[in-house]
Amino acid sequence: MKILVTGSKGQLGNEIRVLAESYPDFDFIYTDIDELDITDRSKVEDFFEANQPQIIVNCAAYTAVDKAESDETTAFLINATAVENLAKSAARIGALIVHISTDYVFDGKSYIPYNESDKTNPQSAYGRTKLAGENAVRQYASKGVILRTSWLYSAFGNNFVKTMIKYGIERDGLNVVFDQVGTPTYANDLAKVILEIIPSAFLKSGIDLFHYSNEGVASWYDFARTVIAFSGISCDIKPILTKEYPLPAPRPCFSVFNKSKIKEMYKIKIPYWSDSVKDCMQRLK
Ligand SMILES: NC(=O)c1ccc[n+]([C@@H]2O[C@H](COP(=O)([O-])OP(=O)(O)OC[C@H]3O[C@@H](n4cnc5c(N)ncnc54)[C@H](OP(=O)(O)O)[C@@H]3O)[C@@H](O)[C@H]2O)c1
Repeated sequence: MKILVTGSKGQLGNEIRVLAESYPDFDFIYTDIDELDITDRSKVEDFFEANQPQIIVNCAAYTAVDKAESDETTAFLINATAVENLAKSAARIGALIVHISTDYVFDGKSYIPYNESDKTNPQSAYGRTKLAGENAVRQYASKGVILRTSWLYSAFGNNFVKTMIKYGIERDGLNVVFDQVGTPTYANDLAKVILEIIPSAFLKSGIDLFHYSNEGVASWYDFARTVIAFSGISCDIKPILTKEYPLPAPRPCFSVFNKSKIKEMYKIKIPYWSDSVKDCMQRLK
């Protein structure tokens, strides 16, 4: 099976690279913006024509959530227009597209874990562009899997785990919000699930939508405390309210996913969030 991984120098893309050797039946092609700028429609078409991937895992995205508030045009180009390019080219050659979306498509006003049929209502520019990307897959792909995930971190790139370790070393104390609740997701766990479901997803037609995060629930404060505790750094973490730490982009205050659909359909067991934080931190050491 020939698998094209776009945006492969990001957190998720790199975690797929790490796992690749455990999947000898898969033939991976890795690209990032330098090899294949997915916003360039004709380059995408030519690349697909020349390489004939059977599966596209789209890890490329504009993920600067706050910056997107003042640059929604660029965020839309990468998170929506480029996804339309991939979906159209995939459909032309009968390929499956696996596309990653976000909990930020929800407004966070629920208190019951979100399932796939719940109404979306993004509050941020990033969330709007990611929802438009989902819609591009629904509209233009013939075979697709949309995986919504949340609070992604990994051994690669910049993320909350690495930021907490850095600040924990530099400072005596840290204030972290406790009124936003969700679930941290280890990109390595997400990468494994993607690679596990690909063979059967490839045999289906139509578009499937799934929610995937690690198990359990946490606030950013709980997440920070866990990282600091596992790191052995001495740093006092104080809980604060979102309004005490204003950022350009509004975040959902509740974005826990109901993951029953993916667990039942693909018979997967999802690791508990803090076990995966521990795994990631062991790798970072
Ligand atoms: N990070 C999170 O907390 C989070 C939460 C929920 C969902 N997600 C979703 O999960 C997916 C993976 O996220 P991630 O954290 O792994 O992202 P990431 O680390 O930001 O990686 C994205 C990659 O895409 C590349 N890229 C940007 N524009 C491109 C273009 N035009 N053509 C090709 N590649 C391009 C980026 O390059 P540059 O670095 O040079 O821009 C980067 O290497 C994304 O769809 C994201 O929206 C992320």
